Amino acid sequence: MPHILVLPGDHIGPEVVHEALKLLPLITASTGVEFTLDHDLCGGASLDAHNDSVTEAVLKKCTEADAVFFGSAGGPEWGTRQPNPESGLLRIRAMMEIFANLRPCYFASEALVGRSPIKEEIVRGVDFMLIRENCGGAYFGKKIEQEDYGCDPWEYSRKEIERVARVAGALAMQTSPPTQVTSADKANVLASSRVWRRIVTEVFEREFPEVKLQHQLADSLAMMMITQPTRWNGIILTDNTFGDILSDEAGGLTGSLGLLPSASLAGPPGGKLGQNSVGGARGLYEPVHGSAPDISGKGLANPVAQVLSLAMMLRYSFNMHKEAEIVEKAVAKVLDTKEAGGLEIRTGDLGGKAGTKEMSEAIQSEVKRM
Ligand code: NAI
Ligand code: MG
Repeated sequence: MPHILVLPGDHIGPEVVHEALKLLPLITASTGVEFTLDHDLCGGASLDAHNDSVTEAVLKKCTEADAVFFGSAGGPEWGTRQPNPESGLLRIRAMMEIFANLRPCYFASEALVGRSPIKEEIVRGVDFMLIRENCGGAYFGKKIEQEDYGCDPWEYSRKEIERVARVAGALAMQTSPPTQVTSADKANVLASSRVWRRIVTEVFEREFPEVKLQHQLADSLAMMMITQPTRWNGIILTDNTFGDILSDEAGGLTGSLGLLPSASLAGPPGGKLGQNSVGGARGLYEPVHGSAPDISGKGLANPVAQVLSLAMMLRYSFNMHKEAEIVEKAVAKVLDTKEAGGLEIRTGDLGGKAGTKEMSEAIQSEVKRM
């Protein structure tokens, strides 16, 4: 029985989490799989209640749950409070050792037409998953910060590279034929990148010989992600720093903050490392967007990114691939009702007039029909 820890967080977090969770009883009705849910606090809500952005008790729960379903944390009312609300999420990430951050980037709906800053004929058909190593590299390690000197060691060990390469390989193998994997680095100038490239190549040759692996320098990839985005369809695997930048760039490609989900995994889906009690990967699932205080409390938030994060949870932590696909197809169908001759059901961020609840109910109806 999959056990989910729900951390809605602040502002629109609870609004969209509440709507997304309404899909679980529908999935239980069609599959018989029951989910157990535990709700708790994180971010500003936890600061108000416990004077800390996340409590030790919640951190412990995060490592015991099969998956954590997260909303978003933060808001202007906690201004300069220390610790800041966003720090709760950072501590959860470290505690769970969720080293593989997955962000899909795809153009799957007519609702995206005209939203991308890139010409439609270039961005149409884009469909890749960016995997960012999230626990190593330049953002961690022993930093030196002095008046006239600063240093961030950019370190990667074999273990860190192998485990994230295995997530990429396992994901590539989930489609038939396996999707191509592009590993992005700066092997021309960075020693850590040369080690990265060598070990990634070893892992794929040894464990995923069927998968086509190519290497690309991260800077030229950044450019070609804009000029030829469909060329990278499949999986892009990269380290923490390049992944931070490339994933934000990928987020901008389709021009739709309200539609972007993410997953952070502690192991390959269905694999051994970081495996949870139901056989999937332990993971945390959250939309890419923040808590949107400017629209919170008005029922205007787009629930789609949170709903698609739920679909990722079903797929990677619970091995429920079919159900994940049903949710994704339902979302695409709702976003495209206007093109299909129906009434437009889109939230304000997509140029429509629908509210959170309306959009969520339309998705639920589609899921029931499928
Ligand atoms: P944001 O993503 O919350 O909002 C940026 C803009 O996009 C706003 O105009 C907002 O209304 C809109 N937007 C975001 N999600 C939307 C949705 N689902 N539907 C419709 N419109 C949506 O980023 P911002 O304003 O920089 O940050 C607000 C707060 O969220 C800050 O406290 C920030 O620290 C926090 N934050 C938290 C994150 C997390 O919990 N992982 C990630 C990013 C920001
Ligand atoms: Mg970033």
